[in-house]
Amino acid sequence: MAEKNREKVLSVNDLVINFKTDHGILKAVRNISFDLYRGETLCIVGESGSGKSVTSKAIMGILANNAIIAGGNIMYRGENLLEVSEDEFYKIRGHKIGMIFQDPLSSLNPIVKIGKQITEAMLINSDKLKLMYNDLISDDLIRYKNTLAKMNIAIDTEKKKLDALETELKAKEGVSKEERLKDKALIKQKEAEFKLFVKETKEKYGAKAKELKAVLELTEKKAKVQVQEYKDQVTKEYLTVEADLKRQIKECADAASKKQLKERLEAEKEAFTDKLTLTKKAAKEKALEIMREVGIPQPEKRYNQYPFEFSGGMRQRIVIAIALTASPEILICDEPTTALDVTIQAQILELINRIKEERDLSCIFITHDLGVVANMADRVAVMYAGKIVEYGTAEDIFYDPRHPYTWALLSSIPDVDSKEKLEAIPGTPPNMIYPPKGDAFADRSKYTMNIDFREQPPFFKVSDTHYAATWLLDPRAPKVEMPKIVSERIKNSLEEDRNHD
Ligand SMILES: Nc1ncnc2c1ncn2[C@@H]1O[C@H](COP(=O)(O)OP(=O)(O)OP(=O)(O)O)[C@@H](O)[C@H]1O
Ligand SMILES: [Mg+2]
Repeated sequence: MAEKNREKVLSVNDLVINFKTDHGILKAVRNISFDLYRGETLCIVGESGSGKSVTSKAIMGILANNAIIAGGNIMYRGENLLEVSEDEFYKIRGHKIGMIFQDPLSSLNPIVKIGKQITEAMLINSDKLKLMYNDLISDDLIRYKNTLAKMNIAIDTEKKKLDALETELKAKEGVSKEERLKDKALIKQKEAEFKLFVKETKEKYGAKAKELKAVLELTEKKAKVQVQEYKDQVTKEYLTVEADLKRQIKECADAASKKQLKERLEAEKEAFTDKLTLTKKAAKEKALEIMREVGIPQPEKRYNQYPFEFSGGMRQRIVIAIALTASPEILICDEPTTALDVTIQAQILELINRIKEERDLSCIFITHDLGVVANMADRVAVMYAGKIVEYGTAEDIFYDPRHPYTWALLSSIPDVDSKEKLEAIPGTPPNMIYPPKGDAFADRSKYTMNIDFREQPPFFKVSDTHYAATWLLDPRAPKVEMPKIVSERIKNSLEEDRNHD
């Protein structure tokens, strides 16, 4: 499928995240970019410490306090998630992006019954009229905000370049007076260019933004009217029914019929409330339905139990249920099965795959286990030392891997059939307070060339869907073969596939 024809639901661009620590600034995520397309599962895979969880936490807006977002953006529905207010973020987080964590216990409250934990999230968004209004204006709002975001990002990117140049020139040591003056003039010139850029950018996007804002305002007006009309309509209907029933109750002489009429009035009242807000009763019904959906037996009984009364696998199903209550369109799963034993692991993976299909979700699936990736991924991003070093379709990564780190990961998958010995990746990941200058994997790889220690490799294009950041793909590099264990496995599985066909 050509990527340009597919709808992007989330876009991470040049994201940089550092942490302040007692030992210095730790560079956890270093200029990563990726897109998530509707309906796909993107797997992020890499060893411990490569920056997978930091990336997912940045998307969810739940980074630790010592995090510094030093660059880039995360675009979702016209918003840069790194910039939206906490209030708005909460709405998005609770609503459209759901997350499942590694350890189900830590995301459940041990002293609150499961049922309450599931309905809690739903009841926060209980105002149905507000939801209806938001739905009605959402498309136009996104279009307008997208334009503003594009403008701000363009300006911000230029400003960062300017700031970086200024810092660099000021930090220069031992420069002559003459050179200092030249630098100053250069900065002056760049500042003038920046001012012009801002003016032009504002002009470029300004007219469009104005136009879209006018459209939005019109839609908002219409939506308000529509919501009000709906409210008036259901209220009118209810009041008519209510008046009629009350009259009947008054006129009714027979006690049994009177009781029946009163019950009907109660039911009508409930149905009326239900149209305007999500009632506790309706929330419970929905919770039970979702509990069934995620495969929890006897949901009515389970609803009133505490987390400790559930097995690990069942707990993880509850966490999934909670994430689903808000009908998210993106689901982020951070090592959702690592804490579970193998058979349960397989069941949860199957569940996630099924839910994803049924609900047409887009999924970011994080794991250190390439074996899991094979069962889940449409596309794969391989992360090492805070960078994406290779990305492509699952087929690209499993049948045509190009980065020595991907080779190393592939060699370390245990082979159940042949009981082949595992090749653990030698060495350890670098200290990210002092990340290596060149390819961060250089000192652990057999394929390292001199340039790997000096310069960071750019992304080389392998195909329209497949990119890898390794100097081995430079036309000047000597031709090397991938490790035998990897090529053998690829050969075997291709043969297996052929036999199945
Ligand atoms: N709050 C923090 N303060 C300082 N460093 C942090 C903080 N959170 C994460 N890090 C560091 O950021 C780097 C990336 O961490 P991250 O949790 O994203 O790794 P990961 O790929 O999810 O690994 P794992 O497979 O172990 O979950 C690590 O070096 C980690 O120590
Ligand atoms: Mg992690």
